[in-house]
Amino acid sequence: MNIYINDISEIEAKTEALILPFFEDDKKDFYSHIDSLIGGLIKRVIRSKEFNGKHNEICNIHAININAERLLLLGLGKVKELTAEKIRQAGGKTFSYLKAINVKEVSVSSRIFDNLNINFPYIQRPIFYLLEGGLLGTYKFERYKKSENGNTIKTINILSENKELPLNWLKSSIESVYLARDLVNTPANDMTPNLMSKVAESISHKRVKLKILEKRDIEKEGMGALLAVSKGSKEPVNFIVLEYKGGVGSPIVLIGKSITFDSGGISLKPSDGMEKMKYDMAGGAVVLSIIKAVSQLKFNMNIIGILPATENLPGGNATRPGDVVKSLSGKTIEIINTDAEGRLILADAIEYALKYYKPRAIIDIATLTGACSIALGNEAIAMMGNDPFLMKTFKKASEETYERVWQMPLYDEYKDYLKSDIADIKNSGGKNGSLVTAGYFLKEFVGDTPWVHLDIASTAWTDKDRPYQPKGATGVGVRLLLNFLKELQS
Ligand code: BES
Ligand code: MN
Ligand code: ZN
Repeated sequence: MNIYINDISEIEAKTEALILPFFEDDKKDFYSHIDSLIGGLIKRVIRSKEFNGKHNEICNIHAININAERLLLLGLGKVKELTAEKIRQAGGKTFSYLKAINVKEVSVSSRIFDNLNINFPYIQRPIFYLLEGGLLGTYKFERYKKSENGNTIKTINILSENKELPLNWLKSSIESVYLARDLVNTPANDMTPNLMSKVAESISHKRVKLKILEKRDIEKEGMGALLAVSKGSKEPVNFIVLEYKGGVGSPIVLIGKSITFDSGGISLKPSDGMEKMKYDMAGGAVVLSIIKAVSQLKFNMNIIGILPATENLPGGNATRPGDVVKSLSGKTIEIINTDAEGRLILADAIEYALKYYKPRAIIDIATLTGACSIALGNEAIAMMGNDPFLMKTFKKASEETYERVWQMPLYDEYKDYLKSDIADIKNSGGKNGSLVTAGYFLKEFVGDTPWVHLDIASTAWTDKDRPYQPKGATGVGVRLLLNFLKELQS
């Protein structure tokens, strides 16, 4: 993707499509210098109410007498109601439309934003969000299609005299979201634990060290909970560790649930919709993408990425409901339900982090519970944790990115839900409160280390197209974590 900032006027811009943002309640003459050259075409569509400037409304006008081939009028809604998210969505709508009609290069006027009289509470300039939404919205997963149409917007020109825009940040974050989406959309017959290791290898370089523990190492280490989950599958289990060294001091550890396929194991899931369970490694995909981004952007802190990667299948050697296993922490776990496998592999990863890294903070990100969408629909990430400062920082990052988090409680009373008659803890507290008891289970392993758990089960995948999230993997968590880490850095 090529992005340029050019200090030229809309009239000079030689372009396939010139995007002109509009407000619904303030259409006064921002573009009259263009309109007078093209015979008042803009005024005509406004007068005829074919274009009103409503949020996400677009209108394509073929131009004459200027260098642009067409004008793409874009509605942003009312001035006072403008938010970063509205701009992002409008960007997504416009770029998807232009991509569909096979436009390969666009220019964007930033005049309306540069003249904005309202106080914009976000970090970036409005034009940043328009590009962000535009680029996120034109993602397509085409790896398995013979006849893709090949439409892509390759070049974006921003028309502005203000050159201040963090283009490297924008590119790295978008590429990382794309990577996460690619990994998650790839079906489980290809996206195996071994392939996740290969991807980790492709991210590693001199400032990012890679360690892969295979079955024998995992046995030697004593990660009985992870092994219990992997036993029912022939696909080899991998415990992947990426160490990014960008500064001094104790690291932040990111743990991503990497179940490359979750059938439920012996506690088999219903077949309806089971094909989607390839997205149960979305947490791991986010962690890989973040390590890539922070190393590209040279964050000045130490960050460890850990991915316990395995399938959860009901093979002949599979773990049975009722089995008791010993986790790396020494705690024994009674496996009531083999479908509550995420917390098992995370528990061992958490213990591994505590043992080897003395982390400043642990963040885990996981498609952990179906109850996540029962509670929040598909609109927010469920957040739990033991550290108010970290959670406050996540809330801030969430406002900036619109990858919204909603905090759930970890009441002491949940401890009882997880009491086992024969082991130290059981892996399922039943249906009642299963979003929070999953979090509570993890809490029992982190101890006093500052920790946040992000359940992305309801947001990592979308069944419908959204303005800048095409159907399928959303890559949610990437922009959130990147902004969160940036916040901790400064
Ligand atoms: N991977 C699932 C959670 C999930 C469900 C993610 C639907 C995305 C969409 C997880 O491993 C799981 O099966 N959780 C169980 C736990 C229960 C058995 C305590 C659940 O939530 O049903
Ligand atoms: Mn499961
Ligand atoms: Zn799962």
